[in-house]
Amino acid sequence: MLKYCLIVFALLANNFCQAQKTIDQKVDSVLKLMTLDEKIGQLNQYNDDLNATGPVTLDSTKKQQLLKGQLGSLLNCVGTLRTRAWQNIAMQSRLKIPLLFGQDVIHGYKTTFPIPLAEACSWDMDAIQLAARTAATEASASGIHWTFAPMVDIARDPRWGRVMEGAGEDPHLGSKIAYARVKGFQGNKLGDVNSVMACAKHFAAYGAAIGGRDYNSVDMSDRLLWEVYLPPFKAAVDAGAATFMNSFNDLNGVPATGNAYLQRDILKGKWNFKGFVVSDWGSIGEMINHGNVKNEYEAALSAITAGSDMDMESRCYKNNLAQLVKDKKVPLALIDDAVKRILRKKFELGLFDDPYKFCDASREQAALNDPDHTKAAREMAAKSIVLLKNQNNLLPLSKNTKTIAFIGPLVKAVKQNKGFWDVEVPGVDSNFIVSQWEGLQNKVEANSTLLYAKGCEIEGEDKSGFAEAIDVAKRSDVVILSIGERRDMSGEAKSRSNINIPGVQEELLKELLATGKPVVVLINTGRPLVFNYTADNAPAILYTWWLGSEAGNAIADVLFGDYNPSAKLPISFPYSTGQIPIYYSHFNTGRPATNDSNRNYNSSYNDLSIYPRYEFGYGLSYTSFGYSNLQMSKKKIKAGETISVSLAVTNTGKYDGEEIVQLYIRDKVGSVVRPVKELKDFTKIKLAAGQSKTISFTINKEKLSFYNNKLQWVAEPGDFEIMIGTSSKNILLKDEFELVN
Ligand code: BGC
Repeated sequence: MLKYCLIVFALLANNFCQAQKTIDQKVDSVLKLMTLDEKIGQLNQYNDDLNATGPVTLDSTKKQQLLKGQLGSLLNCVGTLRTRAWQNIAMQSRLKIPLLFGQDVIHGYKTTFPIPLAEACSWDMDAIQLAARTAATEASASGIHWTFAPMVDIARDPRWGRVMEGAGEDPHLGSKIAYARVKGFQGNKLGDVNSVMACAKHFAAYGAAIGGRDYNSVDMSDRLLWEVYLPPFKAAVDAGAATFMNSFNDLNGVPATGNAYLQRDILKGKWNFKGFVVSDWGSIGEMINHGNVKNEYEAALSAITAGSDMDMESRCYKNNLAQLVKDKKVPLALIDDAVKRILRKKFELGLFDDPYKFCDASREQAALNDPDHTKAAREMAAKSIVLLKNQNNLLPLSKNTKTIAFIGPLVKAVKQNKGFWDVEVPGVDSNFIVSQWEGLQNKVEANSTLLYAKGCEIEGEDKSGFAEAIDVAKRSDVVILSIGERRDMSGEAKSRSNINIPGVQEELLKELLATGKPVVVLINTGRPLVFNYTADNAPAILYTWWLGSEAGNAIADVLFGDYNPSAKLPISFPYSTGQIPIYYSHFNTGRPATNDSNRNYNSSYNDLSIYPRYEFGYGLSYTSFGYSNLQMSKKKIKAGETISVSLAVTNTGKYDGEEIVQLYIRDKVGSVVRPVKELKDFTKIKLAAGQSKTISFTINKEKLSFYNNKLQWVAEPGDFEIMIGTSSKNILLKDEFELVN
């Protein structure tokens, strides 16, 4: 049997090599036919003229350039009609090299899923992968070959507007999610008609922009880079990501776009990445502003040398690479390598066989109207909602509640639910999105009455709507208040120094609470906000983020208990911007503060808590869970050995529910200091009310390793603490073990 398996494996491997060889050979034969001008053309990506996601370079000759083979890719060009029209032009060029169409398909295409940070709250890799799969199915049916996603930047600063686009603060969770998203976008393999190329971005460390200001500089130690910021990128490579995007920031003084350490040494060297790297929008030219190069000529030289293969929108490659080759500053081999990487992907996608492969209008219609996609979006949205507070079990509400007041500026909003980074799909009216009002109407029984008042706007000081809202509240049995941010308040270039709930929304809450009615607050947003008044005074809070097309239905599912919330925060929520950056895996320091009342010469604030408002991993359920019977197979291991850790988890409440059990480890003494705890594993389990299950984790050397002072990945002998809990703070079980030589 083993022999048979080996033969089959060898045959498969051989076939794979043949297929690869064929593509490489084909790439070489195309390359041989290309002039330098045509080669450089493949490295150019321009924006189509309909939408822009960055500062536009006016260029009325795009079509002529394409006809001459001087353009390899377009972004912001969607729909089978539009992509077909552009591809037609490419097919009239001398070599008929197909165009690549790239698009920011960040959290869904027509069917919008929750924003990525919200999805991350589910800690549910199957659901996250399905969300990406669904987006890919729709986008690929609509002419798109390539999504500029996932954004795998670790982010620990909620002032940064793009915190909404990632998976939060933790490298372990972030890596799992990066892997799932790449797999979801790319499906079984590139070349399948429903797969799009993924693009891990922004390489690297973009999420650590100083002060949370978008596009800002990043200054960090090598260890932080390797231990925290790079792992999700490595996971994306492991998942087979076809492309990478570099980033706007400089890293320790060298712009990422011109950073050979990142792109050549790490990505294409150590990690052996075979795909191609696209610059971020205009980032090659922006190296002049950084003060790292003098002009576009030097910018192009720096970027191509450092390993940026494709120039998104700066025109530096187009205008300078030929001269750079002529001047012998750039060897032709460097251009050839970049071109080959791009052509290889065009072959893998099957575009040379059929450039219109993704331009089938009837498939587009079917994919954009697939009811399974709506179902997946609703389930994902429900899994993304975090129950932050539920005093006296106010939630779930009864569907027979006689009168419900639904108040707030987001109740009847439609497009707001989509959040930042949605796609305007041609011919699709975004009114198909289920508003929160509709969701509630769909849910409650016929004998329930729903009352509405807007109360106030998201921003501004106007309180003229308060009286009506108070009146509506007084006539109801329960109030649901939907407040938060506008969808364009978090996202790219949406950094904020003040992340309080905007306007008079919390004042409205105060008035509603004064009626004595129970109030459930829904917070719709793209980032962790500061909302201490709400947290202290509202009896129930659901953090609903921006949930996408099915927002209204999913919120209703959770409010009325058809879905028992299971989400947990992937990022710490501060009490105040003064605590930022705040994250759970900090060092202990020489003078650790252990509580908020002792501030005597220790590492605390004199005027503020040292703890987050809500910690990493926090989230409630309508039921409760008990953890017991921690067992470890060994208390001492050698480097090659493993420990099996098991525990019993019991649903001790009245509802069936899901729990995310989190395992943290602390390396008690290290040659470089180690965090007070690090998430190393987790599992999400479903338990019926009263049910108990034994779950287990494996501890191996990998989970104990870190980068030492020489940047070597090592596990040092010594004592380790193991902590298992419902969040990074609520540790229910603990033990210790030793790693011996
Ligand atoms: C963003 C990228 C995005 C690109 C294209 C840039 O401004 O940083 O994340 O993919 O625009 O829209």
